[in-house]
Amino acid sequence: MKITGPNAEVSARHDWTDGLATFSVKPIGWQLPDFIPGQFANLAMPSGDDWDTEHGKAVRRAYSIASSPGQDALEFFIRRVDDGELTPSLFNLQPGHAVHLDQRIAGHFTLEGAQPAEDLVLVGTGTGVAPYRPMVLQEGVFERFGRVILLYSDRYVHDLGYIEEFEALAKKNDRFHFFPTITGDVPESDWAGLRGRVQTFLTQEAYERLTGKPLTPDRAQVYLCGNPKMVIDVQASLEGYGFVKHKKREPGQIHMEKYW
Ligand SMILES: Cc1cc2nc3c(=O)[nH]c(=O)nc-3n(C[C@H](O)[C@H](O)[C@H](O)COP(=O)(O)OP(=O)(O)OC[C@H]3O[C@@H](n4cnc5c(N)ncnc54)[C@H](O)[C@@H]3O)c2cc1C
Ligand SMILES: NC(=O)c1ccc[n+]([C@@H]2O[C@H](COP(=O)([O-])OP(=O)(O)OC[C@H]3O[C@@H](n4cnc5c(N)ncnc54)[C@H](OP(=O)(O)O)[C@@H]3O)[C@@H](O)[C@H]2O)c1
Repeated sequence: MKITGPNAEVSARHDWTDGLATFSVKPIGWQLPDFIPGQFANLAMPSGDDWDTEHGKAVRRAYSIASSPGQDALEFFIRRVDDGELTPSLFNLQPGHAVHLDQRIAGHFTLEGAQPAEDLVLVGTGTGVAPYRPMVLQEGVFERFGRVILLYSDRYVHDLGYIEEFEALAKKNDRFHFFPTITGDVPESDWAGLRGRVQTFLTQEAYERLTGKPLTPDRAQVYLCGNPKMVIDVQASLEGYGFVKHKKREPGQIHMEKYW
């Protein structure tokens, strides 16, 4: 749909580190529709200096919703791509600044497609962790699966957004197992946890060593989100273990959202 100007404002902003922030965006004069955890919304800004209402020129991009339904704003966890078309202007926004938010919320990367399973395995790189936050915060998710495993990598410790919240949830709920892993060159003194790309922990041997149970298609549903090369690589490795990509008419065990 043509964008004729802003229809929302940034209501809050939190910077995790340079180039990585959460933005809360609140509609102005309209109501947010309901949505399912895992879905995304589109944000847009003018492609030039000002909103061009005559020609409606704007740059629009999709963002997974990182907050739970039922609130008056949507939260997004966004990485600035320095030479990107949209994110440099998004990172100029402060609370009170105008932005365009599409009224339609979309996407099939939700737990609605998940078949009953012992393990729900959520794998995210970078901002690809965003859709998992509302998924693990939603009521009833822990009754549907025996365990929920969240495996999340980024390069540096400060890049791991929401880490404290996930750690607190894991402490409270023994069905939730949180495994953050760092891929950058970080001194031992700054990080005592796991290291390596998510693939390091998704071989059958490594997964069983890490979680105490096997990684097999009869007991796990796996969600992959973020860097497309990670998604393709992990998909291929899981297919080697007999996992199949999920389709609406042919239910499988691999669900995916590629960010680019
Ligand atoms: C369904 C969906 C959900 C998405 N959700 C998020 C989200 O929650 N948070 C988020 O930051 N992005 C998300 N993205 C990516 C987002 O739509 C944009 O592509 C991204 O913000 C870059 O936009 P840009 O115009 O600045 O860069 P562009 O000019 O479009 O440049 C794109 C290039 O930027 C890089 N890139 C794109 N996204 C990322 C990223 N997240 N991290 C690192 N490098 C990236 C890639 O190299 C890509 O080729 C999502 C994409 C899809 C399709
Ligand atoms: N200060 C800033 O402004 C700033 C800072 C950071 C990034 N950026 C921008 O963000 C953009 C890209 O960000 P990014 O490089 O951090 O995103 P990214 O490449 O998606 O990296 C995020 C995480 O995904 C992992 N990863 C990457 N490729 C993978 C693969 N094939 N398989 C498994 N894991 C994989 C990375 O591990 P590895 O470390 O092993 O690759 C890292 O842990 C850049 O274009 C840059 O402009 C800006």
